[in-house]
Amino acid sequence: MHKPLLDEHGRKASYMRVSVTDRCNLSCTYCAGEGQKFIPHPDILRYEEILELMELAVKLGVEKVRFTGGEPFVRKGFADFMVAAAGRFPDVDLCVTTNGVLIGKHVEGLAKAGIRRVNISLDTLDPVRFKSITGHDHFHTVRENIERCVDAGMTVKVNAVAMKGVNDDEMPDFIEFARSMPLDMRFIEFMPVGLETGWDDSLVWGCEDILNEARTLAELTPCTEEEKQHGPARMYSIEGGKGRIGLISPYTNHFCATCNRLRLTSNGNLRTCLFSDKVYRLRPILRHPRLGMEAIERVLLRASRHKPIGHDLLKCMPAGQGVCQTRMASIGG
Ligand code: 5AD
Repeated sequence: MHKPLLDEHGRKASYMRVSVTDRCNLSCTYCAGEGQKFIPHPDILRYEEILELMELAVKLGVEKVRFTGGEPFVRKGFADFMVAAAGRFPDVDLCVTTNGVLIGKHVEGLAKAGIRRVNISLDTLDPVRFKSITGHDHFHTVRENIERCVDAGMTVKVNAVAMKGVNDDEMPDFIEFARSMPLDMRFIEFMPVGLETGWDDSLVWGCEDILNEARTLAELTPCTEEEKQHGPARMYSIEGGKGRIGLISPYTNHFCATCNRLRLTSNGNLRTCLFSDKVYRLRPILRHPRLGMEAIERVLLRASRHKPIGHDLLKCMPAGQGVCQTRMASIGG
């Protein structure tokens, strides 16, 4: 009998985020630093290794797995891997976070395989601005692919990192977007995670300000816990609209007390908190000729037990520095 992944604060890890690559086809200002080094291929977990770890995590109570990157679809065979994972774990809630550039031709196949939930990052609705944030001219592709996912019947969440002086003048467009499409338009407060993100307190466009502004533009009604399907976002329906608006406030209003997440990086490091550099290296155990899954299980249990309450880390850092020294792209958000 396996024990669940419980910690000292009574939290249970039921959600695992799995980064399948640290590489990305965009270079967003807030995420990718200059001169980044990528993880060498031999150090990246093979798909079979990820499936093995998922198998164990599910035995230990993980019910939801989200694949992230970098950008997951830049890894060869990713869409096929997701279809295989959906077949092997029919009872696990499988979802993916993507920048939406390469998902287009895979949408139907993924939907057919039972992948029902996609998060797509989109920080602006202005094509020129999209290029200045991401370094690439893919706005229209992403916009079309969002529509494809919606048309395929997927639950689509569009995530924008809210940044003062970057996209804080776009609320009317964002509201219109969420009014016209059945999707969740969510704003995430810019977090000081990683090196060279250019993060600064003055760039944080706080969720209360976002909400106040949204309220001047639309009649918003808070969703119940059941309607919003859990998660850290506060959701609001828009009067007369198809979609919803959501706020994720890791900075002004942390949700560490209810955090149920574990993170697996593409090179096989387990992280129990986005704001901590503490890692548990699973790859050497996984590839060891004699150590088996029991050894990994012990690490998972120990790691979960010591999962920190991360907001202290977030608030106690020196001005202008990231709380953790690893790039967001290699943790997977
Ligand atoms: N603060 C907030 N959100 C971020 N993301 C990446 N970096 C940051 C940051 N510093 C978002 C991405 C994506 C999700 C995985 O995390 O835009 O939507």
